[in-house]
Amino acid sequence: MRMRILVIGSGAREHALVNALATPGNEVFAAPGNVGMEKATCFPSIHTTEQIADLCRQEVVDLVVVGPEVPLVEGLADGLRAEGIDVFGPSKRAARIEGSKAFAKDVMAKAGVKTARAEQITDAADIDTVLSLFEAPYVVKDDGLAAGKGVVVTEDLEAAKAHARDVIEAGNPVLVESFLDGPEISLFCLVAGETVVPLLPAQDHKRVGDNDEGPNTGGMGAYSPLPWLSDAQVNRIVDEVVRPVAKQLDKQGDTYNGLLYAGLAWGQDGPAVVEFNCRFGDPETQAVLALFGSNLSEYLLATATNQLVDMPPITWKPGYAVTVVLAAEGYPAHPVKGDTISGAEGALHAGTALQDGELVSAGGRVLSVVGTGETLEEARDAAYEKMSHISMRGGHYRTDIGKKAAEGKLSVQ
Ligand code: GLY
Repeated sequence: MRMRILVIGSGAREHALVNALATPGNEVFAAPGNVGMEKATCFPSIHTTEQIADLCRQEVVDLVVVGPEVPLVEGLADGLRAEGIDVFGPSKRAARIEGSKAFAKDVMAKAGVKTARAEQITDAADIDTVLSLFEAPYVVKDDGLAAGKGVVVTEDLEAAKAHARDVIEAGNPVLVESFLDGPEISLFCLVAGETVVPLLPAQDHKRVGDNDEGPNTGGMGAYSPLPWLSDAQVNRIVDEVVRPVAKQLDKQGDTYNGLLYAGLAWGQDGPAVVEFNCRFGDPETQAVLALFGSNLSEYLLATATNQLVDMPPITWKPGYAVTVVLAAEGYPAHPVKGDTISGAEGALHAGTALQDGELVSAGGRVLSVVGTGETLEEARDAAYEKMSHISMRGGHYRTDIGKKAAEGKLSVQ
């Protein structure tokens, strides 16, 4: 089936979506898009729901795929559906699964899903008392949408308190959570009401430096699938976590439609939820979609139109994929912009811009590269070989994406 698809967003995740959706016969558009999207017609000045709806009519778009969380949490999908446009992405009410931690915790409690114990702080005077209820390592989160950068996990009580004070001073509530032990898993699922179809599991690397050192970031790299997680264990996550949550959302009138991202830690008692996101993850999507062997547009349309239940199982390419992110000097705290980039042909763009015809950095996570291979080691080699051709003053990337897994150092029971 030939489709005309509009992708909303501008990052490397959206770049990967554009590339995966631009199969022969499909026409892909992006708003605002980025300067690297060669397979899409980009509309850099289109942002509002009204502008997007107008663009859909002008270009006779069959499906809108929303990449980032902010427009979903603000109700973009509702606005477009009200105009009769098919959208892959949850309603404003359902997107609270990411936008409101209190909502997510309530849904999980009702669905009987394991997650961390959490306390919210809105008054700086309560920081000491609430933190005294927890043990190290302290997990202190910005309870707004902080793109992963608002989380501090630290053994240092004073650092935990300082982060909580900073978040409250910035005007957001703080969430303190008990630490969930065990390897982290990102499981993306297509969800249409009660129908749940998992994609391949992935693992993100959130700390800025090798060996998981330094501050948290939006994600510095990922690999997929996870050689240490069996299909039966993926099914256990679907049965114990994702399907109960999808059912609960449906039951309470917040029916979910789109990509539900379960961020989990698999500890001694099995999988527990660290967080839910209401969209594809970045940088995991770049790796997961590199292995998608079916026609992605058909699955996203079937989800959007509540026909996912009728779709055949997804075909996956054999082997592994690894994403490595190139970040700007100073990222995540104070990324420097304007550095010239060379050798980035074929990379997925995120924080890039064209300045006098030259490609320059324009954000913290600048671009990502994806390598694939029969083994995880080969996929790592392929990704790092691509990265070795890219140069940018001050640019930095992790050299150990997928390394522990490739060395057999991760396992779960
Ligand atoms: N990979 C982290 C995120 O997308 O939120």
